[in-house]
Amino acid sequence: MDTKKFIEKKIKEIKRTVGSEKAISALSGGVDSSACTVLAARALGKQLRVIFIDDGLMRENEPREVKKTFADLGIKVEVLNYRKRFFAALKGKTDPEVKRRAFRNTFYKVFGKEVLKSEARFLIQGTIAADIIETKGGIKTQHNILEQIGIDPQSSFGYKVIEPIKTIFKPQVREVARALGLPEKTYKRMPFPGPGLCTRVVGEVTPKRVALVRHATRIVEEEIASLKPFQAFAVLLNDKGTGVEKGKRKFGEIIVVRSVESKDAMTAEPTKVPWPILIKISRRVIKELPTVTRVVYELTSKPPATIEYI
Ligand code: XMP
Repeated sequence: MDTKKFIEKKIKEIKRTVGSEKAISALSGGVDSSACTVLAARALGKQLRVIFIDDGLMRENEPREVKKTFADLGIKVEVLNYRKRFFAALKGKTDPEVKRRAFRNTFYKVFGKEVLKSEARFLIQGTIAADIIETKGGIKTQHNILEQIGIDPQSSFGYKVIEPIKTIFKPQVREVARALGLPEKTYKRMPFPGPGLCTRVVGEVTPKRVALVRHATRIVEEEIASLKPFQAFAVLLNDKGTGVEKGKRKFGEIIVVRSVESKDAMTAEPTKVPWPILIKISRRVIKELPTVTRVVYELTSKPPATIEYI
């Protein structure tokens, strides 16, 4: 792919599609939506409003860091706190697809509201080729894929979705992000799913359970970073296991450590993490998160497993 030409073409396309109207970019901080946001900002300047929905399902310090990265590029990001709304939508839900749907519907409603309020007519989203293939193949329901699954966002929600990078895969997206001047920490960033930590909490998604998996994720990311895996994170299971503390038995949470190698997330292999790193993660998780009694390492490839847990 000729990255420079791709960028020029997309900027022209966005300009032509939006015309003199206003657009909103749905920024999540990941490489996909970051690349899209810079493309749109280059195409639209002041006609673009960049919104970061704080759904309460992000990794530690995410909203603040994203704001700073874009401020450095001269792009203003509005962080909107909708945490309560997302947790309310997820309350009591345990089925993976029901949780994904609850997330997706909340995401679109919240965005629809913001887009209408701002009088924008277009929503820019970082859907990539793998998202479309997997949703069509029935592997999952992506939150960012309304049109592909036959829902017309114009009649359902009152605006149009523009997906500038839906024809390319992750490695090309990284090239585009780099060429657009995003910093290395963004274009080399591990993929993070749209529904956030929701995909790493098996069972009900509550603020408390998310806080637990968020902290465990930081530990995994810190300890595994030197191996530069495709993706590494923690998962909270919906089961418990017995542990001992000060001579007493206690029934505690189980954290799964997942680290995978992959090119495009369509297939993946577990990372061969050196034993001392795994042991260090386990010790840190148990020490820093007292409700956890067990830490396990996940050995399954994709397929048959998926990368995320829901
Ligand atoms: P799975 O778990 O299906 O994930 O093997 C493949 C890749 O996609 C990411 N992922 C998502 N990304 N919205 C996204 O934007 C989603 O709903 C979603 N679900 C999974 C996952 O992190 C992995 O990189």
